[in-house]
Amino acid sequence: MHVIIAGNNESEGEEAVMKIKEATVNENVEFIHLDLASLRSVRQFVKTFNAKNLQLHVLINNAAVMLVPQRMSEDGYEEHFAVNYLGHFLLTNLLCDTLKQSGRDGCCSRIITLSSDTHFVGELNLNDLQSRLHYSSHGAYAQSKLAVVMFTYQLQQVLRQEGSHVTVNVADPGVVNTDLYRNVYWPMKVFKWMTAWLLFKTPEQGASTSIYAAVSPQMEGIGGCYLYNGQRTKSADVSYDEELQKKLWVQSCKLVGISDTSCS
Ligand SMILES: NC(=O)c1ccc[n+]([C@@H]2O[C@H](COP(=O)([O-])OP(=O)(O)OC[C@H]3O[C@@H](n4cnc5c(N)ncnc54)[C@H](OP(=O)(O)O)[C@@H]3O)[C@@H](O)[C@H]2O)c1
Repeated sequence: MHVIIAGNNESEGEEAVMKIKEATVNENVEFIHLDLASLRSVRQFVKTFNAKNLQLHVLINNAAVMLVPQRMSEDGYEEHFAVNYLGHFLLTNLLCDTLKQSGRDGCCSRIITLSSDTHFVGELNLNDLQSRLHYSSHGAYAQSKLAVVMFTYQLQQVLRQEGSHVTVNVADPGVVNTDLYRNVYWPMKVFKWMTAWLLFKTPEQGASTSIYAAVSPQMEGIGGCYLYNGQRTKSADVSYDEELQKKLWVQSCKLVGISDTSCS
């Protein structure tokens, strides 16, 4: 098995590679730079990946930022929307052909995209996806996590219609003790510091739903699900709005500069 750790932090990425190699005795593990805040970087990553002529059986769209101050990516997009959603949207679309070629009947390629229960309070504002008119860091994070869920459902529908052997699901890891909380207000930091051992999942526990989605035989051929604690569950009502899903898809294609039939 060949494993690629894609990320924007080379030292952390290389450390992860080393740990996986030690734990698995698999030498086919490598780090490749990927900055999801940059569409240019996403395209460069896919170019590097394609040059390796590898198959792709599992893609985990895991990266995120949370509660960052209002900032724009190099492409001029709001940072939560750019990193948590648009970067993954482009990455997935550009890797779709390889995923399709790698999957087969009884052994589908799998895409897993991380969302959060925060999506339940998210509002998708198609007229202001970049939160230019009104910015709240919580609202922007929630919108990006709702967009991820809607993209997943829309993509699964496209893949199903064309009979591809690729499935795509959302994983919600629950509340996990990670660096994601680095931008929360200090009272929350104190609360987390005092209670994390009791109330928060460990990173290993937090990863379990993504791993379940990625490798469980029970998930073979199953897509379009919102998974929480290894169970299929309902996402926010608005996430099932197919008209809104399509509109988001069309706008996203324009924002990243791809044809809106690129995954079909
Ligand atoms: N922790 C929770 O309670 C929780 C709850 C619900 C959902 N989630 C979701 O679970 C996923 C994993 O989060 P986590 O808790 O493991 O947080 P984390 O430890 O902060 O991991 C997020 C990762 O994303 C990377 N990242 C940020 N910006 C990036 C960029 N521009 N390009 C490439 N990589 C970038 C970060 O790299 P750097 O370290 O270099 O910044 C970090 O490695 C996220 O999608 C998050 O929304 C987490």
